Amino acid sequence: MSLSLISLGLYDLRDISKKALDEARLCNILYFEDYTSYYDNSLEEIEKAIGLSIERLSREGIENNSEKIIKEAKQHKVGILVIGDALSATTHSSLLLEAKQKRIKIKVIHGSSILTAISETGLFLYNFGKITSIPFENKEIYEPYEVIKRNKPLHTLLLLDLKDKNYMNAREAIDYLLRIEEERKEKLFTEDTLCVICCALGSDNSIIKAGKVKDLIKLTFDKYPQCLIVPGKLHFHEEEFLETLK
Ligand SMILES: C[S@@+](CC[C@H](N)C(=O)[O-])C[C@H]1O[C@@H](n2cnc3c(N)ncnc32)[C@H](O)[C@@H]1O
Repeated sequence: MSLSLISLGLYDLRDISKKALDEARLCNILYFEDYTSYYDNSLEEIEKAIGLSIERLSREGIENNSEKIIKEAKQHKVGILVIGDALSATTHSSLLLEAKQKRIKIKVIHGSSILTAISETGLFLYNFGKITSIPFENKEIYEPYEVIKRNKPLHTLLLLDLKDKNYMNAREAIDYLLRIEEERKEKLFTEDTLCVICCALGSDNSIIKAGKVKDLIKLTFDKYPQCLIVPGKLHFHEEEFLETLK
């Protein structure tokens, strides 16, 4: 039969498209992958909106269950509901590739994503370099710091780890980068570095704040999920926009 990757949209059920709802309703087996991002609605609320029962995939569920999912997709119409845009995480594109190689029909329903929502900061998407993420276990992890360095003069989006409903906040991300700076002493990320903190984009209570690290760390951000942007070289229009977010 077929495998559909269905985007739920950025923040809550109001972000789901009509196309996504229609596609989900046609599925015989529906999974919900909720370990890569935050969604403001519960599984039960999503089930009610779609009108079908849905199975939650555990963490690393897609990797561990890919064989099972592919096998089911040979016989049934299988759908996987993904928070944000379905193809913004590489795991999902691997599953799609596997399905293609097994000659299973695939369908992708695109959706809103943090990867484009960050343009609300006024920073141009075209001026971003590689995306990186900061894990909770980051003692020996230098990649995010190095990505910021390699990306210059482009901007860097740092996605923050989440585990079992525990979301890393932007302050922890800043502390992590300052710690690496302390070791490396490359003046890449200091108290004077300009940063942008984005909280709960797409919600009615979203927060976007720009400023120097030393000013941002005086503030408390209690809306989740959060991500951090380290801007590179600014176009005058971007600069003007960030001024309004200080
Ligand atoms: C691995 S990404 C998943 C992205 C998702 N598939 C999408 O397309 O939006 C999850 C991380 O993105 C960031 N993020 C996701 N949604 C967000 C939001 N609404 N506001 C701010 N940051 C968000 C957080 O750092 C979160 O831990």
